[in-house]
Amino acid sequence: MARRSNGQRNSRKHDIVLLGATGYTGLLTAEYIVRHLPTNLKWAIVGRSESKLEALAKKLKDLEPDRLQPEVEAISFDDRNQLDSVIRDSKVCISVVLYWKVGEVIVKSCVENQTDYIDVAGDVPILRTFIEKYHDAATKAGVALIHLCGAFGGPQDLLTWMTVRELAQKASRKTKEVVLSITEFELAPSGGTASSMMAMSTYDPQVLKQSRQPWILSPVKGVDISPSTNFLGMRQDPVLGLLSGPTISADENRVLVHRAWGLLRNTTQDYGPNFQYNEYNKVSSVAAGIFSMLNTAIVGFALSFGITRKILSLVFPAPGEGPDVEKTRRSPVKFEAVAIADSDDGEEPPRAYASFSYPSGAYHVTGLLLSQAAASLLYTRNLEGGFAGGCLTPAFLGDDFLNRIRSAGATIEAYLV
Ligand SMILES: NC(=O)c1ccc[n+]([C@@H]2O[C@H](COP(=O)([O-])OP(=O)(O)OC[C@H]3O[C@@H](n4cnc5c(N)ncnc54)[C@H](OP(=O)(O)O)[C@@H]3O)[C@@H](O)[C@H]2O)c1
Repeated sequence: MARRSNGQRNSRKHDIVLLGATGYTGLLTAEYIVRHLPTNLKWAIVGRSESKLEALAKKLKDLEPDRLQPEVEAISFDDRNQLDSVIRDSKVCISVVLYWKVGEVIVKSCVENQTDYIDVAGDVPILRTFIEKYHDAATKAGVALIHLCGAFGGPQDLLTWMTVRELAQKASRKTKEVVLSITEFELAPSGGTASSMMAMSTYDPQVLKQSRQPWILSPVKGVDISPSTNFLGMRQDPVLGLLSGPTISADENRVLVHRAWGLLRNTTQDYGPNFQYNEYNKVSSVAAGIFSMLNTAIVGFALSFGITRKILSLVFPAPGEGPDVEKTRRSPVKFEAVAIADSDDGEEPPRAYASFSYPSGAYHVTGLLLSQAAASLLYTRNLEGGFAGGCLTPAFLGDDFLNRIRSAGATIEAYLV
């Protein structure tokens, strides 16, 4: 497939197309586009329900009446012509659909129509399929596919990239481990997240086991993982404090970060040959740590059996619903990370620290990241590591992305400790 020229891209009707705009995350992402991206942005909201899309368009107009309003396109996702038509007309596609139902056709269409793409797909077997089937074609076509660019995935990958770079630039050292702490975070899933968790738990046990292998999404295999926890599954870090693992998102974030590591090997941004990523919840005491671990274990256990899944589906929100949007506007999130230098001479290894905080909850962070990632691809498109396309991670949007997130209200910092 020939690489898309800038001329072809510039002549497209929409700057951004938002697919799945009628969902819980889609609505929030549309709101973030309206509040933070330029008022002359040409964009479209796309879904399968015309009435839901019209209701959303009205809400967006009420929010910001003076900006260019989005076009509304109701399509059937099963109709390749309709799907191709909206994607072919757009420079960047944000996909926030239920990936286990219609995720792949969108990725395929983006690669074939040479449209850059961003998602928040946290289902590792699905991401593996995307990579196996579309990475090479996207690389050849110069199409960026940025995966897992939400509150789960985005900050973790970016903080890793930042701390590793801080160690390299300020201490001239490669990184042996990045330790990430979920410091402030209220976990309340949306209907789509709940549905994805349920769908994931019905995979063949072999597929699930494979999806937890730390290097499954990396083009090269790394070291064996050693999470450095005590017999209670906890760890005391001199900078981050008392940490308890595993977190609910540890496996998916690890394979994403390890993919970034693998893609950046032997580039000027190489993290180091012995790198690994470990993720924990910050806890105030040993008792709180045990409670946090029990919580994660109970959710995992409940998702493993048909009968307990049925019970969970009664308490989880329905598709399209989620935590109260106004309440979660005042529910801050904070992630912190430390990169520990690779050292073999018994010295105390230098460390770099980074943090990401935002005054609103996880789904707001997702709206922020998706909209600013789209802006970065649209207005700058400077991919790290010399990449022109392929199945990439949020870190590949680099400093431009970080600066855009900062200007939209997130606090992000990194320094040597
Ligand atoms: N990584 C992260 O940080 C993160 C954060 C947020 C969300 N997510 C993921 O994003 C996904 C969406 O979550 P959500 O809570 O926003 O879900 P949701 O509210 O249920 O919305 C899903 C969207 O997909 C559309 N859709 C569903 N089935 C479809 C089909 N067969 N054909 C076409 N469109 C279909 C829905 O359209 P209708 O309105 O017509 O039903 C809706 O627009 C989930 O996989 C979730 O795990 C990840």
